[in-house]
Amino acid sequence: MSKETILTGVTTTGAPHLGNYAGAIRPAIAASRRDDVNTFYFLADYHALVKNPSPDAVHQSSLEIAATWLALGLDTDKSVFYRQTDIPEIPELMWILSSVTAKGLMNRAHAYKAAVAANEGGGQNDPDKGITMALFSYPVLMAADILLFNARKVPVGKDQKQHVEMARDIAQRFNHNFRELFVLPEADIDENTAVLTGLDGRKMSKSYNNTIPLFLPEKKFRKLIMKIKTNSLEPGEPKQTKGSTLFDIYRAFANEAEVESMRGKFAEGIGWGDCKQELFEYLNDHLKDARDEYDRLIADPGYVEGVLQKGAERAREIAVPFIAKVRDAVGIRPLANR
Ligand code: TRP
Repeated sequence: MSKETILTGVTTTGAPHLGNYAGAIRPAIAASRRDDVNTFYFLADYHALVKNPSPDAVHQSSLEIAATWLALGLDTDKSVFYRQTDIPEIPELMWILSSVTAKGLMNRAHAYKAAVAANEGGGQNDPDKGITMALFSYPVLMAADILLFNARKVPVGKDQKQHVEMARDIAQRFNHNFRELFVLPEADIDENTAVLTGLDGRKMSKSYNNTIPLFLPEKKFRKLIMKIKTNSLEPGEPKQTKGSTLFDIYRAFANEAEVESMRGKFAEGIGWGDCKQELFEYLNDHLKDARDEYDRLIADPGYVEGVLQKGAERAREIAVPFIAKVRDAVGIRPLANR
């Protein structure tokens, strides 16, 4: 029995925040240490182009995300860590998969539908106004990412579940039409991993602009934590832990005993200012070493590039022979042996 493959990608827009860490990066790094699975993690920089960010932003974000994963201890000997755009077999497979993907299936993708709905709601008479083919085909590219490496488990947030199901549909269609080449993937949504709230009390997300980046200089980091929204209860008044962003963030990092002790402080009426200071000190201690390493890596992009190149080499050891089988299955092969 070959080992099960776990694979996930990170779109290279923006800098990783506390919510990304608790929800995705930390569990992924934990999985990378397991001996019973293979892990593939990659920078989804083709996916980043969908939102038409500036070239500099795409470039910078790739460095920041790669440096973050490395600084937090990803073991790149065990895990295959690469950049999507270093694997030409991914867009090649995307095209082949496009030929077995129903357009109607893509019409039902949430992200596309939301964009159409926004146009219609905004009184646009062209429902597709501003919608690119990249946005529309996004799920096919994601299917190629997953299917090229025969990943079985795909850890993602709830918003990506539909895309993994589409990848599964596409794989099934290919397997049925041609040859059983693809493993059918499954979204792995861990209900126990923390979904953090952000500065304003909504889910921490780049799209809400309410994030706390992981590796800010200490002063800026403290300033942001001081900005987290609280209610107007005074010091000395007992406070609810439920619905408290401060408590939720603390809980995502602290151990059980620490969480219990913080619960006690809430009941005793800890002042919000003191609570924020305590959260800042706790997180700062927790992240300090990684932040130093992160700063070193950001200052040495050549090193990070080398790590990604090595990862791409390993990924292509799998991708190149596999795409040959896919090509053969659809009839793309030499006319004769010469
Ligand atoms: N679309 C994913 C996101 O925005 C990122 C991604 C790209 C991905 N390709 C993937 C995730 C393949 C899992 C598997 O979060």
